[in-house]
Amino acid sequence: MTERRRIPLLEPSLTGGEKAYLEECLATSMVSSVGPFVGRFERDLAARVGAPHAVATINGTAALHVAVRLAGVEPGDEVLVSTLTFIAPANAVRYAGARPVFADAEPSSGQLDVERLGRFLAAGTRRRDGRLINRTSGRRIAALLAVHVLGQAVDLDPLRRLAERYDLPLIEDASQALGTRYRGRPVGSGSRLACFSFNGNKIVTTGGGGMLVTDDPQLARRARYLTTQARDDAVEYVHREIGHNYRLSNLHAAVGCAQLEALDDFLAAKRRIAARYDRAFAELPGLTPLAVAPWAESNHWLYAVRLDESAFGLPSRRLLAALDAAGIESRPLWQPLHLSPAHRGAQAVGGEVAEALYRQCLCLPSSAGLAPADQQRVIDACRDAHRRAAGGRR
Ligand SMILES: Cc1ncc(COP(=O)(O)O)c(C=O)c1O
Repeated sequence: MTERRRIPLLEPSLTGGEKAYLEECLATSMVSSVGPFVGRFERDLAARVGAPHAVATINGTAALHVAVRLAGVEPGDEVLVSTLTFIAPANAVRYAGARPVFADAEPSSGQLDVERLGRFLAAGTRRRDGRLINRTSGRRIAALLAVHVLGQAVDLDPLRRLAERYDLPLIEDASQALGTRYRGRPVGSGSRLACFSFNGNKIVTTGGGGMLVTDDPQLARRARYLTTQARDDAVEYVHREIGHNYRLSNLHAAVGCAQLEALDDFLAAKRRIAARYDRAFAELPGLTPLAVAPWAESNHWLYAVRLDESAFGLPSRRLLAALDAAGIESRPLWQPLHLSPAHRGAQAVGGEVAEALYRQCLCLPSSAGLAPADQQRVIDACRDAHRRAAGGRR
């Protein structure tokens, strides 16, 4: 019997110009961060998201760390961070010596709950000497770090109004949102500080890589400086402050340039995959696609469903196990960061919504290259799991 291929959650498609561009790097010996693909990748990405400036970094976490520094966050400060997300943005806050305060998600799409955040800012903070102080901790709240999750977008207009009202620099973690639109505009356009990731599971990958985009030329200059070891004099090796070795290599950027050329194809493929799942699951009781927020045009990076245990017959982790047994990788959402042992003791603004979504949701295979037959296997395995669970209840 032939072994059926295991279906991964997300795998990259590397079938465009990647090989030719990498060969060009090797042929010219341009492999480090001074190579020409780095600038080209920055220009292409900036054009794609409609941002005037882009600075390439070794990964998305490094871009976030630099963004936190650029926002003026100081050791001992606090930063408001989405709780329902991958851990990197909270870690970036900690790298800067600051502390995250975690903000809850809204129940329908899982994005940051901006309204709830507004209520916290109104009731939970006060002004002292021009600084915004958290009434609970007595510390300064220095910035807002909002994460666009699952290829969707946070409700940016009210969030930007909040940031302005409370004089808080806004950092957007757009790691999962390349190609996503917010009310018709690409995520990353009109942003003071937004960060992208190109790790292996993202819609565009460089193997590992990130990008900081900004509409402010001074911030862009400083980002370039900080990511290049804060080098003041390249000949004499003079450095006035502590920087980072965070620049992307030419090899990685070469892959990024090829991947960006394919972004429209990836977006179209992922849209088709999401639509096919939507159609198939419309008939399946207790399994509902996580809603796309009305303000967002998703890049459909990762397809998530929510399980109603009593209607479906199984909780999410039992479906995960059933899919695993069928050779299919699925994954829960992230443990909400206010529950993360790594961030123990951090304050949470709400958190119950994120906890419920974490319990109920499962992410299904969503690679741009997912073959229709493989997607049908995923759909059939979900139907099967429900049928068996329903049968067992009779
Ligand atoms: C929301 C979010 N932020 C940050 C990161 C970190 O990016 P990287 O892995 O490139 O450091 C990721 C992905 O890994 C992510 O999903």
